[in-house]
Amino acid sequence: MNGGAPVAGPRLHGGVEADDPGTDPSDHSTATPPFPAPGPVSDTTLPTTPPELTDGRIRVRPWRIEDVDWLTTAGQDPDVQRWTRLPTPYTRADAEHFVGEVAPRAWDRGEALHAAVTDESTGDGLGAVGLVLLAGEPTVAEAGYYTAAHRRRRGVAAAALDLLVEWTFTRTGVVRVELHVDPRNAASAAVAARCGFVLEGVLRSRTERHGERRDVAIHARLRP
Ligand SMILES: CC(C)(COP(=O)(O)OP(=O)(O)OC[C@H]1O[C@@H](n2cnc3c(N)ncnc32)[C@H](O)[C@@H]1OP(=O)(O)O)[C@@H](O)C(=O)NCCC(=O)NCCS
Repeated sequence: MNGGAPVAGPRLHGGVEADDPGTDPSDHSTATPPFPAPGPVSDTTLPTTPPELTDGRIRVRPWRIEDVDWLTTAGQDPDVQRWTRLPTPYTRADAEHFVGEVAPRAWDRGEALHAAVTDESTGDGLGAVGLVLLAGEPTVAEAGYYTAAHRRRRGVAAAALDLLVEWTFTRTGVVRVELHVDPRNAASAAVAARCGFVLEGVLRSRTERHGERRDVAIHARLRP
C-alpha cells in the first residue's frame, strides 16, 4: 500500500457502467474508452463509481470521512509502519488527506482503487486493501493490504484480497496482480499463499524504507 501517491499513466477505468441508473449506456460521447479494456471474461464497460464488494462477512468499500479515526489508529501500528509505505509518522491529517483526496482522485483518474475493509455486521473498520496499476504496463497491477492489529489472524486480509482480485479479473483488463512483499514479512507471504499467489523471485535492494535498502519478493496471481 502506498497510502498516498497515485501512479500516473495507466487507467483503471474510464467508461460508463451499462447498468448504472441514470446513465444511458449507449451514450459514450463524453466517456473515455476503458483502458485497459476488459478482456474476454467481461464485455461490459466499467463502473464510474468504485465497487462495493462483500462475502457476507467483510465489506470492501470506498473510504468515507468517518473512517478517519480508525484509519489514523491503524496507521500507528508498528507492523503497518514497518511493512507498508504509509507516511511516518502517520497523522490524522494524513488520513484525512488520503480519504478525502488521494483515494477519490486516484479512482477518478482510473489509476488506483483504494478501499476500506469493514465488518459486514457491525460496520467496524478492519483494515485496508488497494490496487494500483503499474506505470507503463496497464494490464498489471500491484495490490496491497493491512489489517488493524486487534483484528488480525481472522482471515480479514485474505478475504479482502480475494474479493479485490476477483473483481479485478472480472471487471477490468488487468491480467496479472502482483504483491511486493519484504521477504522478512512472513504474515504477508502467508496471505499471498492463501490467496493463490505464486512467489516468483526476489528483487535485491529494490526499494528503500526508513533509510534501509530492502529486497522485494514478487508474488503474482494471473487471471485464469
Ligand atoms: C499481513 C497482514 C495484512 C495479515 O492480515 P490478517 O488479516 O491477519 O491475515 P489473515 O487472517 O487473512 O491470514 C491469512 C493467512 O495468513 C496467515 N498468517 C497471518 N498472519 C500470520 C503470521 N503473523 N504468521 C504466519 N502466518 C500468518 C494466516 O494463518 C492465514 O493462513 P491460513 O488461511 O493458511 O491459516 C497483517 O499481519 C498486517 O496488517 N501486517 C502489517 C502490514 C503488512 O505487512 N501489510 C502487507 C504489506 S506487503
